[in-house]
Amino acid sequence: MQPSVASMVESQEPTVTTRPNQYRVFPQRLLRLLAPFLLLCVAISFISIYLIRYFGFQTTLPRELASFQTCGNAGERNNLEHWIRPPTDLLHNMTDTELFWRASCVPQIKEYPFARVPKIAFLFLTRGPLPLAPLWERFFEGHEGLYSIYIHALPSYQLNFSSSSVFYQRQIPSQLTEWGMMNMCDAERRLLANALLDITNERFVLVSESCIPIYNFSFVYPYITKSKHSFMGAFDDPGPYGRGRYDYNMLPEVTMADWRKGAQWFEVDRKVAIYITEDTKFYPKFLNFCRPHACYTDEHYFPTMLTIRAPDLLANRSLTWTDWSRGGAHPATFGEADITVVFLRGLLEGQSCLYNDQTTSVCFLFARKFAPSALEPLLLLAPKYFGY
Ligand SMILES: *[C@@H]1O[C@H](CO)[C@@H](O)[C@H](O)[C@H]1NC(C)=O
Ligand SMILES: *[C@@H]1O[C@H](CO)[C@@H](O)[C@H](O)[C@H]1NC(C)=O
Ligand SMILES: *[C@@H]1O[C@H](CO)[C@@H](O)[C@H](O)[C@H]1NC(C)=O
Ligand SMILES: *[C@@H]1O[C@H](CO)[C@@H](O)[C@H](O)[C@H]1NC(C)=O
Repeated sequence: MQPSVASMVESQEPTVTTRPNQYRVFPQRLLRLLAPFLLLCVAISFISIYLIRYFGFQTTLPRELASFQTCGNAGERNNLEHWIRPPTDLLHNMTDTELFWRASCVPQIKEYPFARVPKIAFLFLTRGPLPLAPLWERFFEGHEGLYSIYIHALPSYQLNFSSSSVFYQRQIPSQLTEWGMMNMCDAERRLLANALLDITNERFVLVSESCIPIYNFSFVYPYITKSKHSFMGAFDDPGPYGRGRYDYNMLPEVTMADWRKGAQWFEVDRKVAIYITEDTKFYPKFLNFCRPHACYTDEHYFPTMLTIRAPDLLANRSLTWTDWSRGGAHPATFGEADITVVFLRGLLEGQSCLYNDQTTSVCFLFARKFAPSALEPLLLLAPKYFGY
């Protein structure tokens, strides 16, 4: 087509003599006669090319969609429902790299185009069984739709809850975790990332098998969801177990002045959860330069990294009460004989802290550590003292 256009246009020019012989043999009069027809042909060709392209797309698109739909449940991927419905099966086979990438996808429009009831995700980090589950079951009862549960146990351990339990099939794919090691933080990030896949999860509480709630759900839900801060313990400890664990190899990402310490039992909002999940900048520094027994990542990584990235979002205190008064490397564990009225009142009273910049006497919503033997007395006293 192109040569005919060229010959046709150039035939009317005086320079036509420079054309190759096969053009020159064409009589000038015939060419002039044929020119309008050639023009018309070229015009029609171009129009038809565009028409084919245009209608070609129009006719192939529905066919592609039709075959796409039959792969999954028909129509699912076409509507918003597909994007906002939480995953039905928690046992996906994504690697951590795949999972963290997926979980770090954030909508840039802040308003949700659907009625979104924010949920609190309870992240249970445990080695094996959840001996205090009956207490938690009672705590959650009647509040369906306002919470979700995720459990990270050792890979070899299968939790076996009946289908009527809130813990039924809430175990996520896990990996080996050891106290004080980076793989403990990996497990916490894995819990966060799995919970982030449900877009209605707005707040994320990390608890262990020895944690209990010390207020009822009706109290805990607004306390957490209305807080403008995330409850991450973070303080600057000038001593050997604080700044003494800092390693100058962490420069320039982490300075001594940034270095923070805090217990691992956090409560964070969605934004902070994504900061933790997406981090690739500070992670290698802590992996390489915060190692037992000189340093413990689970006490420093999140508090320090978040103090650098989002200090204004942190309450710098934890919601989980722990008794360190006995000294040593491990906090006190309370068993059957410890669960008295005086002890429970002590958990609930005599506190003072900041909540949304105001002083409050309710500083802890959860407490640890409780032995399995504490379950029976706790079940007896919870209605009166914890309100559930
Ligand atoms: C993940 O599971 C799907 C089926 O559920 C399978 O097709 C895929 O090969 C699996 N991928 C890996 C990496 O195991
Ligand atoms: C799980 O629990 C059911 C009853 O609740 C019991 O029949 C079954 O043997 C248990 N399975 C394992 C592996 O413990
Ligand atoms: C928490 O500490 C950071 C500095 O480490 C500070 O910027 C922030 O205001 C503190 N949060 C509250 C609620 O005081
Ligand atoms: C929940 O706890 C609060 C405060 O502790 C109490 O006022 C309220 O009555 C309790 N709610 C229920 C349903 O027991």
